[in-house]
Amino acid sequence: MVFCRLKWFIGFGSRDVLTKASRSSNRSTSLIWRCYHRTPGSFLDPEMRAFLEENTEVSSSGHLTPEIRLRLLTPRCRFWQERADLWPYGDPFWAIYWPGGQALSRYILDNPDAVRMGSVLDLGSGCGATAIAAVMSGASQVHANDIDPIAGMAMVLNCELNNVNPFPILTKNIIDTELDKWDLIVLGDMFYDEQLANSLHHWLRKCIRTHGTKVLIGDPGRPQFLGHRIHSQLHKVVEYSLPESTRQENNGLTSSIVWSYQP
Ligand SMILES: C[S@@+](CC[C@H](N)C(=O)[O-])C[C@H]1O[C@@H](n2cnc3c(N)ncnc32)[C@H](O)[C@@H]1O
Repeated sequence: MVFCRLKWFIGFGSRDVLTKASRSSNRSTSLIWRCYHRTPGSFLDPEMRAFLEENTEVSSSGHLTPEIRLRLLTPRCRFWQERADLWPYGDPFWAIYWPGGQALSRYILDNPDAVRMGSVLDLGSGCGATAIAAVMSGASQVHANDIDPIAGMAMVLNCELNNVNPFPILTKNIIDTELDKWDLIVLGDMFYDEQLANSLHHWLRKCIRTHGTKVLIGDPGRPQFLGHRIHSQLHKVVEYSLPESTRQENNGLTSSIVWSYQP
């Protein structure tokens, strides 16, 4: 079952998945889809669009931001129950709206001033909800980054669903690469693997020191996050109680917190 497989990896560490995802993203074209600005959606392969539409359900309930509609893997989708090895692509992390991203998006929608100051990067954007929240709140420039190219395609569909102009989506790994200047970097549920958490910690600290970037992290309190040394350098911004269905899907986690990283 695809859904159980995703939860298992997040719950117990995901080194293999990440390695696999990085490898597959190196094989695939890594590109900035700037052309979406000019011709929204037209760049999507029709077969891929059909696959994503057939195997997801539009959902606006059961999460913290009912004003954002998303194509997600739900119990009514074939692959909720189907054997995971029949799923033809990499693990669809983008088909789940993770509690960390939910909290960040809620915070951004309720506090538009947090993003209005300038450019926003949603790192590990998955379904793209947090980037969409930033656009809805009036951020002047929004970029999304996810190493899974299918996530990029799902984000285009999700922008369409919310009548939001698609933002540039970068599908290569930018952690540890030369730094662009971002006013704000947001990361939802990205501290689920020790190696990834170490790289993020180092790279984010450099972004802050080089460009004065602000960093907001959304996390529901996963052990990999709570046990990481970045945790002692975080300041709690807000805590949200999770909706019942998100609690059930996340092994009973009950709330999700937005943290500000200030090393
Ligand atoms: C648990 S999901 C969180 C998605 C979204 N932020 C949310 O909260 O709903 C983690 C996402 O990070 C992406 N990811 C993993 N390693 C990455 C990396 N090095 N750079 C960018 N994205 C990465 C995965 O493909 C996946 O979509």
